[in-house]
Amino acid sequence: MKPFQRAIRGRLFWFVEDPAETGARAYRYLDDGLMLIRNGMITAIGEAIVLERQIGPGMEVIETGPHLVMPGFIDAHLHFPQTQVIASHGADLLDWLNRYTFIEEQRFANPAHARKTARFFLDTLLSHGTTTAAVFGSVHPGATDAFFAEAERHNTRMIAGKVMMDRGAPAALLDTAQTSYDESLALIERWHGHGRLAYAISPRFAITSTPAQLDAAAALHRAHPECYLQTHLAESRREIETVAALYPEAADYTDVYDRFGLLTERSLFGHAIHLDARERARLAEAGSVAVHCPTSNLYLGSGLYDLAAARAARQITALATDIGAGTSYSMLQTLNEAYKVQKLVGGTLPPLEAFHAITLGNAEALNLAHLIGSFRPGREADFVVLDSAATPAMAHRMERCQSIEDELFILMTMGDDRAVKATYVMGERFVPEREGLAPPPAPGMAF
Ligand code: GUN
Ligand code: ZN
Repeated sequence: MKPFQRAIRGRLFWFVEDPAETGARAYRYLDDGLMLIRNGMITAIGEAIVLERQIGPGMEVIETGPHLVMPGFIDAHLHFPQTQVIASHGADLLDWLNRYTFIEEQRFANPAHARKTARFFLDTLLSHGTTTAAVFGSVHPGATDAFFAEAERHNTRMIAGKVMMDRGAPAALLDTAQTSYDESLALIERWHGHGRLAYAISPRFAITSTPAQLDAAAALHRAHPECYLQTHLAESRREIETVAALYPEAADYTDVYDRFGLLTERSLFGHAIHLDARERARLAEAGSVAVHCPTSNLYLGSGLYDLAAARAARQITALATDIGAGTSYSMLQTLNEAYKVQKLVGGTLPPLEAFHAITLGNAEALNLAHLIGSFRPGREADFVVLDSAATPAMAHRMERCQSIEDELFILMTMGDDRAVKATYVMGERFVPEREGLAPPPAPGMAF
């Protein structure tokens, strides 16, 4: 990286605590703030009038005008080989997997296809304001290798892993307990801790892993406890019945993973909708994370995640798109649907809690809060510039905006990638590579 110093001036918003616990004390909002960045890291943040004198000669100052600047969004669960299965019509999760997903993922045996898709995927995430994600690859190690190479080129903080699956899918998508161990290990050695990248050991779910493979995943995690472990849990009723038949000795679905030692503080369980009190208590005790994927759950008709029940059980919840069962890359649209899901279970999702979830909340769930998710000196300068009046309908609604909370609620209800004016990765403005998209911005007064 070429050394650089840059200042961002404008409306800065970020969380320092969880608003579910401390309400309005949990966030900081500066109407005319200044954030100083050196070589990708935040060095100072505060009122512009106070910090202005620290702007050195020749330092670029980016004025963000009326827009809202906040930490980059974090997506805690999605699948990069599923960009072309979004909007495929299936009866339920298992039908959708068999009819579309397990067919599409076979294309990722071709590394050139994987590279091209990874490029599209990362470009699209960044265009939607997402700067960090926990990503499932396909079974092919070459595809995950291509993903990491692209993530490195984008300099994004990404977590990813090759899917482990040794039964219950077409033969072309199966590995074995041993090859999945060996291939995952080689990827860990190559990519984990390399720059901003981290590895997630990724047994797909209990239906597509034999006991021998879950054992192999656990052994690998014991050997590399610094890695994440990601899988799926209790997403649909039919999935749960199938798992019960495959693992009759387990008390419930959570216990299937628990028996193999897969419940750790670094474990991310996608969906986790249909859990009883025992399972919630066990996840909470283990410090494992349930990842709520509202657009996916509504799309497949999987069920309604109960945030209040999870919170009452002291269970950690992260939020995610789950592309490609999820229907939008946008974490704003994910909040929109999450809010509606909570309404349907008799709860709610206030805007402060919503935006905390996709920034600092997800950073904490992923053990990354010391690096991302908030604006503090020493953190990495990943951030988004949001336009709350991005569309005529949003601009019209904004005329009645009363407060910052009101503005956040408008953004999460009506916003999507059109509201993302710019995304910065380590202090550098992201420029989409796809043909026909925005030309490179002029330096300096870009807004
Ligand atoms: N369970 C196992 N694999 C998958 C997947 O690819 N998507 C979803 N939504 N659930 C899964
Ligand atoms: Zn998933």
